[in-house]
Amino acid sequence: MRLVSRLQAGLRRVLVVVAPAALLVGASACESDMLDEPGSFAGLYSGYFQNCAQCHAPGAPGRTSDIEATLNFATEAEAHQSITQGSASGLVGNQQACNGVRFLGASYETSLVVAVLDENVRHGFSLASHPGCDADAISDMTVKVGYPPSASFLHNLAAWIEAGAPR
Ligand code: HEC
Repeated sequence: MRLVSRLQAGLRRVLVVVAPAALLVGASACESDMLDEPGSFAGLYSGYFQNCAQCHAPGAPGRTSDIEATLNFATEAEAHQSITQGSASGLVGNQQACNGVRFLGASYETSLVVAVLDENVRHGFSLASHPGCDADAISDMTVKVGYPPSASFLHNLAAWIEAGAPR
């Protein structure tokens, strides 16, 4: 009997500690989903794309002569404009097969801006118009940023493309 009641007391103590912690984790997960604002480009920009401006912006500190030259992430407006209207340019060497490819395709899977972030899309990337622009020619930009985007960012990016890439 005494052992059982000691176990019960111990279990209660664990619940007292764990339950609020679980609530906190749940609450912060909700919060970051809300910050990502599904469907809005503002959420995508603040959620990850602003990191790209370290290199892809006029005069950016990380800009090199071999960089993709169309993308401009300096501001949210310029990022939206260059992603939705632009195609890759200025790529040299191994990557040059992707010059002329639009950053935004008809779907998530055919978008070059997705292929540089989502490994699955990169490995399946295949365009009849640019057969050489495949996983060997598409660089992993999450390595350049230094950390990968969250799963909810990629989810929201897919929803945004499906919705027609609204501003
Ligand atoms: C540290 C600098 C740096 C950062 C940060 C960076 N890029 Fe790049 N990006 C490059 C360079 C350099 C290239 C040219 C290809 C290469 O060298 O791998 C490139 C190429 C690209 C390409 C062409 C794809 C290809 O390889 O065919 C796209 C699209 C792209 N970047 C998008 C992005 C996005 C989106 C981000 C932010 C998530 C980003 N880049 C962050 C430097 C950077």
